[in-house]
Amino acid sequence: TAIERDFIEKIIELKKEKGYTILAHNYQIGELQDIADITGDSLQLARLATEIENDKILFLGVDFMAETLKILNPSKKIIVPTKGSTCPMANSLTPEIIKEFKEKYPEAPVVLYVNSTAACKVYADYTCTSANAVDVVSKIDSDIVLFGPDKNLGSYVAEKTGKKVIPIPGDTGYCYVHNRFSAEDVKKVREEHPDAKIIIHPESPKEARDLCDYIGSTGQMMKFPETDDAKEFIIGTEVGMIHKLENTFKDKKFYPLKELAICNNMKKNNLKNVYLSLLNEEHEIELPEEIMEKAKIPILNMFKIME
Ligand code: 13P
Ligand code: SF4
Repeated sequence: TAIERDFIEKIIELKKEKGYTILAHNYQIGELQDIADITGDSLQLARLATEIENDKILFLGVDFMAETLKILNPSKKIIVPTKGSTCPMANSLTPEIIKEFKEKYPEAPVVLYVNSTAACKVYADYTCTSANAVDVVSKIDSDIVLFGPDKNLGSYVAEKTGKKVIPIPGDTGYCYVHNRFSAEDVKKVREEHPDAKIIIHPESPKEARDLCDYIGSTGQMMKFPETDDAKEFIIGTEVGMIHKLENTFKDKKFYPLKELAICNNMKKNNLKNVYLSLLNEEHEIELPEEIMEKAKIPILNMFKIME
């Protein structure tokens, strides 16, 4: 619409004038992915953030991702359009729960999914993302790990590494968007699109994962169609992913595994609050120095172990 075009023009002007680089996660609405300088999965965004020379970043995603950027770039100014974009899965784990598990399993290193709060990362030995969770855990010199907060990613890691993965907090740690994918959903789309390849995020339950053709992070999902001859793909993750896939692979077709796989928090950013965010240069991510210093260690350990 004309109003949307107007906002987009203003955002591009303000971005230049105020000197911001815009980073967006793959689940953002299409219009925002299109105005971003860089889009990616959580691992790509975390890595790239350290390579960007610009010291002003507007981040479009959810709070734990913005916190990770700040932890890796403490001197940069990181702003987000709303402080209300959070991740219920990340919030399902607390430092107290981690401490309880550490007491029970003192020999087990703590591996936290980046989808966790900075306060929790303070107690982790390593972080991981969905793109490298299997790699990180397989390289850790221990046959047992405490892993959280995503129980589904934890079960995937256990399956792939053969290690004992103790989920923390346990049954309550999951992403409500991915946890809803069922075996029935996969069977249904398989019938509807028999020639399509079905790709799914590892945050999904095992019963659904087991029936799919490929399991990967959103960044890995972007690479898969390049290497596969199929013309149609079913995408088992948040629906925002479809936009980038369609734009990148114009001769292939993409359908969501479920139309209603929507992360409400990822969708809290819109053209209007992005415009206001640049105009007022708010809301800035601020974290206590001590938390940043401690939370940085497991993130750097992740980068190191992957080298
Ligand atoms: P990735 O982009 O790392 O695959 O993460 C998915 C996710 O759920 C982020 O909130
Ligand atoms: Fe959290 Fe799931 Fe939303 Fe990602 S998609 S931010 S894991 S609720």
